[in-house]
Amino acid sequence: MNRRNFVRLAGGGVVAMAVGAGVAARALNPAYPAEAVEAWQGPGAGTDPRRRAVAYAITAPNPHNLQPWLVDLREPDVITLYTDPERVLAHTDPLGRQILIGHGAFVELLVMALAEQGLGADVTLWPRGELGARLKDWDRRPIARITLKPDAARDPLFAHILNRHTPKTDFDTARPVAADVLRTLMQGAGGHGLQVGGTVDAAALHPLRELCWQSARVELLTPRTVMESIHLTRVGPDEILKHRDGISINSPFIRAVDAVGLFDRKTPPAEGSEAYKAMMARFEGHSRTAMGFVWLSGPNHRADQVNAGRAYVRLQLQATALGVGMHPMSQALQEFAEMAPHYERVHQLLLGHPAPKTADDETVQMFCRLGYTATPAPATPRRPLTAFVV
Ligand SMILES: Cc1cc2nc3c(=O)[nH]c(=O)nc-3n(C[C@H](O)[C@H](O)[C@H](O)COP(=O)(O)O)c2cc1C
Repeated sequence: MNRRNFVRLAGGGVVAMAVGAGVAARALNPAYPAEAVEAWQGPGAGTDPRRRAVAYAITAPNPHNLQPWLVDLREPDVITLYTDPERVLAHTDPLGRQILIGHGAFVELLVMALAEQGLGADVTLWPRGELGARLKDWDRRPIARITLKPDAARDPLFAHILNRHTPKTDFDTARPVAADVLRTLMQGAGGHGLQVGGTVDAAALHPLRELCWQSARVELLTPRTVMESIHLTRVGPDEILKHRDGISINSPFIRAVDAVGLFDRKTPPAEGSEAYKAMMARFEGHSRTAMGFVWLSGPNHRADQVNAGRAYVRLQLQATALGVGMHPMSQALQEFAEMAPHYERVHQLLLGHPAPKTADDETVQMFCRLGYTATPAPATPRRPLTAFVV
């Protein structure tokens, strides 16, 4: 072998080793790919205040991280918000209530981010009438028309937008949530026509934890509802980068299970399989380690649902400011037939009366567990800003 070929081979070997080490590091790194979470760096250098505000609003909490928002910026000084009809949860949210809560959270962050730039906002919900009662009746009418106006007071919760993350791991059962933390969290919460309730009382925790776990079992053991989540699960950096939405899993264990074909995404996990055990353990752990609960309730018209999202994101930003984790446990609130007994029970336990019969009746809109995690919750992926702008 002449020297040149030897050098070439040696160089190639080093490159191969470097690539190999890079691939291995990527394989073991549980962090989401940087590009998928770039939204959490803020809006960058753009100067249109509406685009800058939208860049903050896309970090809003929303069901299954579907990010169902579409904004039309063609009219000067106006942001018109639509829902993306492809991004809904037909089985676990057949009435679209939760999807609209995610739109309310988006509107609230938008208003806060405009105020931060010195701009006020007039929010008109349903400018062309409300969407239909069921997802299948939904057409392309806007959810909100937001008109800019001069002058606005800054909102202190704005400072927490880019640090707000939903913790989806067990809470530390050695670390109770203090009663005064709950009190501070609830102070000033609600608004937008919503009532706020909460407890960290040990005696109250047991039935509520049990409700979370039993209602989770219904979602997980009903084939069409568990498949809805499985279809939205993104495993490993390539899938996460491709979609930048849904339920992102990047842990080496699940990726290994997936890589060897043990995480079949075409059928519900078979009872007793590793995937089944991991799924059940995850939800049982979340339920049983709840160290407190907080909930929002109010009437249930379409505008109330959007307003519930506005109140919810404020509450979660306040939790962020206090350093306490707040995680929605929405299973008992889901409106499909098999869940009806738990829907009844969540209303009895939290509000002391039966489940609502009409949209005027008080309805639990959000139900969340509270606690502290061992490590901070990660930022979840968001699609690029351009994907949201018409
Ligand atoms: C209406 C609504 C319902 C939600 N329900 C659940 C739930 O049942 N379980 C859960 O883990 N997260 C739930 N979430 C949280 C979302 O999954 C979370 O906001 C989304 O994945 C984005 O993550 P982030 O909040 O950390 O940005 C819910 C959020 C909203 C707005």
